[in-house]
Amino acid sequence: MEIVAYARSEHPNDAQAEEAGPNASLRSLSEMDWDFAGAKTNYLTHRLHPYPAKFIPQIPNALIQELSRVGDTVGDIFCGSGTTLVEALTLKRSAVGIDASPLACLIARAKTTLLSDFGKQELLHVLDQVRRMAEDAQVPSSSRLPGVLSSAWRPDYPKLSFWFEDFIIEELAEILQICRAVRSQDAQTIALASFSSIVVTVSRQDSDTRYVRREKGTLQGDAFKRFARALEQSIEVVSELTDIVEPRFDCTIVERNLLLKPDIPMLDLVVCSPPYPNAFSYHLYHMTRMIWLGMDQPRFKAEEIGSHRKYSKKGQGAATAETFQKEFSEILSWLCSRLRKGKYACFVVGDSTLSGKRVSNADLISEAGIPAGFREVARIDRHMQATKKSFNPAIGKIKTEQILVLENVGTK
Ligand SMILES: C[S@@+](CC[C@H](N)C(=O)[O-])C[C@H]1O[C@@H](n2cnc3c(N)ncnc32)[C@H](O)[C@@H]1O
Repeated sequence: MEIVAYARSEHPNDAQAEEAGPNASLRSLSEMDWDFAGAKTNYLTHRLHPYPAKFIPQIPNALIQELSRVGDTVGDIFCGSGTTLVEALTLKRSAVGIDASPLACLIARAKTTLLSDFGKQELLHVLDQVRRMAEDAQVPSSSRLPGVLSSAWRPDYPKLSFWFEDFIIEELAEILQICRAVRSQDAQTIALASFSSIVVTVSRQDSDTRYVRREKGTLQGDAFKRFARALEQSIEVVSELTDIVEPRFDCTIVERNLLLKPDIPMLDLVVCSPPYPNAFSYHLYHMTRMIWLGMDQPRFKAEEIGSHRKYSKKGQGAATAETFQKEFSEILSWLCSRLRKGKYACFVVGDSTLSGKRVSNADLISEAGIPAGFREVARIDRHMQATKKSFNPAIGKIKTEQILVLENVGTK
């Protein structure tokens, strides 16, 4: 692990003596073992829903502990499934998450929801209902019975039968109707996130990160069974979180394209893992989930930063490293006014391969930060776990990532 942490007084433009606090925190970060080999990563609500390229909770946990105080507000400007937000709440901080993806926002909300007693009763009722439906739907595999026939809404999407067996469409429609009928907002959010968590498994989509069709031998009743298991687990983990988090620490989630400079509360720390060029295409991996949930997938597709689709285009319309840096210049100049002076923004980011060349995204972000009023104060290399599957051949060989820490020093 290679670590560079610049103490503030070492910076050529900053000769004044600085108080020990921030220096000590940066030094302490530089001395940590960031590999977290063998650490348990799916505790509490972190296991509520899969999310490609989410970071392990130990990373935001360590950064939040070192770089913020109890009662502070911690933001994740690319919150995805909400890993930073969950850690902030458990560490007695308030949290603010932003993401352009409505699905990310649903998952992040579910993972940070504190469940009311009424909401829990409603979810237990749904669980009973769906378990009964799973029992009723079970038929011998030799049977040719049509299974459940639902009158409930389903997406008007021409390729629905391409991605889902007909009996699974009926079952999903039934489950979704039940979820939408849940009256309390907290419980409905958890029910819908649990629904979303099973969509890819019961579809013909190969996996969360491969958008190709594969027959999986799905049986009648499978959607009911899997949903019941997912919901049971969600109730368990959300109840655990509810017991731990003090209600005075709240979590705000803003569904918005960052390039549109959303209005958010002032932050004391940012911890995020940004999308980076040519890495993933969330709009594609999450297509079937978003369609079922009636979300505006084309809007998110247009707004998504870094998507493989935008960087793999041929010719003039293709995005480049400059595109990414320009987007970050805009984001960082907005962030400068939303993060308190002297506070830190941390970016966990790997390299990209663009047109066969390796590009350091940490360099691109750090450089984009200078005119916006940010100064790099630490950069830490960490090894990613060998077991973590890299699903994009363009980045498949890259096994390290950087934790880049920028300080908001403001513009002169
Ligand atoms: C690497 S993921 C973050 C994962 C997160 N750290 C977690 O643990 O779940 C990057 C996120 O950036 C979001 N994103 C991409 N383009 C965006 C944009 N223009 N505005 C806001 N969010 C965007 C994606 O939807 C995705 O959730």
